[in-house]
Amino acid sequence: MKKVITYGTFDILHYGHLNLLKRAKELGDYLIVGITGEEYDYNRGKLNVTEPLVKRIENVKKTGLADKIIVEEYFGQKIADIQKYEVDIFAIGSDWLGKFDYLKEYCEVVYLERTKGISSTDLRIYKNSILNLGIVGNGRIASRFIPESKYVSGVNIDCVFGRNEEHIKNFSQKFELNNYYTDYTKFLSQIDAVYIATPHNTHYEYAKKAILENKHVLCEKPMVLEAKQAEELFLLAKKHNVILQEAIKTIYSPCFNKLINIAKSGVIGNIKDVSATFTKLVENKNLREFNKSMFGGSVTELSTYPLCAIIKLMGTNYDNISFSSIFDKETGVDIFTKINIEYPNAMATANIGIGVKKEGDLVISGTKGYIYVPAPWWKTEYFEIRFENLSQTQKFFIKYDGDGLRYELADFIKAINAHKNSYKFKNEESICIADIIEKFLLTL
Ligand code: CTP
Repeated sequence: MKKVITYGTFDILHYGHLNLLKRAKELGDYLIVGITGEEYDYNRGKLNVTEPLVKRIENVKKTGLADKIIVEEYFGQKIADIQKYEVDIFAIGSDWLGKFDYLKEYCEVVYLERTKGISSTDLRIYKNSILNLGIVGNGRIASRFIPESKYVSGVNIDCVFGRNEEHIKNFSQKFELNNYYTDYTKFLSQIDAVYIATPHNTHYEYAKKAILENKHVLCEKPMVLEAKQAEELFLLAKKHNVILQEAIKTIYSPCFNKLINIAKSGVIGNIKDVSATFTKLVENKNLREFNKSMFGGSVTELSTYPLCAIIKLMGTNYDNISFSSIFDKETGVDIFTKINIEYPNAMATANIGIGVKKEGDLVISGTKGYIYVPAPWWKTEYFEIRFENLSQTQKFFIKYDGDGLRYELADFIKAINAHKNSYKFKNEESICIADIIEKFLLTL
């Protein structure tokens, strides 16, 4: 019996896939189809897949062409599969010409001509149309966002809004954007969605105006500084049928999601304590971070990250919260703060600092063991599950690509196309963070 193997994502199954499967099957008597797993796709930077693995498996199964379906989970698996299943022929579309010649050591390699004029990428575009996203602000984070957007399909960024014409003109030239606006209403009329990357205290007004104009909003963290503002914006977004998402890159990254799922699975028993630290020394006191009137300080700048980990793990229903801070004498902003949160029979601490450095790790302690995520845990790509017996340690790694902003953008686009907010960060979680920041600001 001649065995043939082929691989693909097979997202939105189309006739190009069918042609490929038919011809691959004709090469032998038994066809094995390897379908890429979600984690593997993330690891190789393919963030645009729209259908979950089960759906893609179901679709390939329905063709009746596959004798066996397997899931491709890691780089190098093809060599193992070919040997394990005693495969005679590896077949793949001609878009991969030459890329799999290294498999010739193990079996025959055949490149089948790709069907012209169709791809999953094209179908995603026909189905969802390209989202025109405008950038609000031209600062540091906006400059990191545009290069990251190149890794996400289904989005086009071609304009920026800002108050200083010279600055946004330079920004648009630097990032080859065709348009820049100093008039927010005019800017909004040109786009479908905004990414707000201005100082915190301006987010609320920009987001509200955009929603009222029926634009989707991806807003940098902290989205707002008061719970009632967050509540109002989410209600407004619902009314206007648009997506509002707080841009916390960690929340949308694949390894962080795996970490949360594992922690919640009970593998370390009941979670009793979470300790999350994020410090980033800001040396120039002329920057916004040290400007009290612009809501500078450690909590407003950095607490979103540790709080999102704590809330994802422990929930939004805490009993008590308290803050201890060290303040900068000159500017009055908090340069280091500990947020202590008491839950029924459990606790959590967030340590944040713009003027004090501390190991930036995350420790999740349970009744059977603990999870250790080394610094920088907010760019999650590695963690260990540890127990009393050290030989039981388990290690996990999923690559965190680039600046990570691509993950929040990919989820934002998915949410828009699916007409519902990402399950990865719920509205009440975003509101809870705004509420904690508000509580802290009220102590000042
Ligand atoms: N394929 C093909 N003809 C097409 C599209 C895909 O022969 N028009 C083949 C690919 O070469 C590969 C298999 O189908 O062998 C699965 O490809 P996959 O990457 O899932 O499909 P694409 O449509 O190319 O997906 P994308 O646009 O997301 O890259």
